[in-house]
Amino acid sequence: MDIDKSGIIGQSPALRKVFGVLAKVAPTESTVLVTGESGTGKELLVRALHTNSKRADKPFVPINCGAIPRDLLESELFGHEKGAFTHAIRSRAGRFELADGGTIFLDEIGELDLSLQVKILRVLQEKEFERVGGTKTQQVDVRIVAATNRDLEQEVARGNFREDLFYRLNVIPLHLPPLRERGADVLLLADYFLSRFAQEQGITPLRLAPEARAMLQVYDWPGNIRELENFMERLSILCEGEIIQPTDLPEKIWSSAGRELPEAPLPAEPVQVGFAWPQIRDLRDHDMDLKTFLDAVEEKLLLEALDMADGVKNRAAEVLGIKRTTLIEKLKKKGL
Ligand SMILES: Nc1ncnc2c1ncn2[C@@H]1O[C@H](COP(=O)(O)OP(=O)(O)OP(=O)(O)O)[C@@H](O)[C@H]1O
Ligand SMILES: [Mg+2]
Repeated sequence: MDIDKSGIIGQSPALRKVFGVLAKVAPTESTVLVTGESGTGKELLVRALHTNSKRADKPFVPINCGAIPRDLLESELFGHEKGAFTHAIRSRAGRFELADGGTIFLDEIGELDLSLQVKILRVLQEKEFERVGGTKTQQVDVRIVAATNRDLEQEVARGNFREDLFYRLNVIPLHLPPLRERGADVLLLADYFLSRFAQEQGITPLRLAPEARAMLQVYDWPGNIRELENFMERLSILCEGEIIQPTDLPEKIWSSAGRELPEAPLPAEPVQVGFAWPQIRDLRDHDMDLKTFLDAVEEKLLLEALDMADGVKNRAAEVLGIKRTTLIEKLKKKGL
């Protein structure tokens, strides 16, 4: 079956299985629950589901249930009538109404509290709801797709999630495997992100040295594709050469390969920018007291001035802004 993968990159058997289910379930009206660790591409997958559905030309309305405070969430989802609460100066449609005919994406559904879970269950079963502060029952035709990175079955066992809602949502479970279970997809994705960032910046894409590729493959990627994407962006901006070497990879990737990142070589010449006033530390470092230190500084400047003046004391005194006699006296005292 041909589907629009909507920019989901990967060819691993684990991901092909997901594409297989996606192709079958997208054109149906079934409720889908997408699970997977953070950064595995749940949102991307849900968008692809909508794109491949019969509702593709109707609205796709996402809402992150974990990002909106409880009091606001109900009105975000179902809308409210004027005067329903203090700040409800006018009536407003909620996301379910906006999604009519299309798909609503309830992201982080595990964060919903029990009273809102009841209301979602009612929309699922009866396709109806009321606005906050409203009395009129509204009908909607919305496909519900939900996602979570929690273990909802465990939340059901703990009493935090309604069992009936869980089964109603979980008609078609779609699990996104973590990146570490997608084999060579890691490298496919790394190259894809490198060329995407290069294109955005109008530069030639960086390439990964074979040894660096091997190390990316061994690393665990706890932040999954998001972590890889951010990391490739950083390399695209900061990497000096055209080829990413193992030494360009961070400590955590080295240690997961069971190796230690070699210490960066010191720059050949310490770079000095501008004048720095001496500090007490300088006295200690040179094992000098104040007088010895100041004498040393004076001697250095006297000699430099004489050097600049080709040994002509008149001119050296001028450079230093002191009298010729003072200069001679100082030189004598220092035995110069
Ligand atoms: N297979 C993939 N191919 C290309 N890009 C991907 C893929 N999977 C994820 N991404 C990208 O990785 C980032 C994270 O994906 P997404 O936001 O869909 O993850 P998520 O599972 O919803 O994460 P969270 O649980 O933190 O909300 C996005 O920028 C997305 O475009
Ligand atoms: Mg997400």
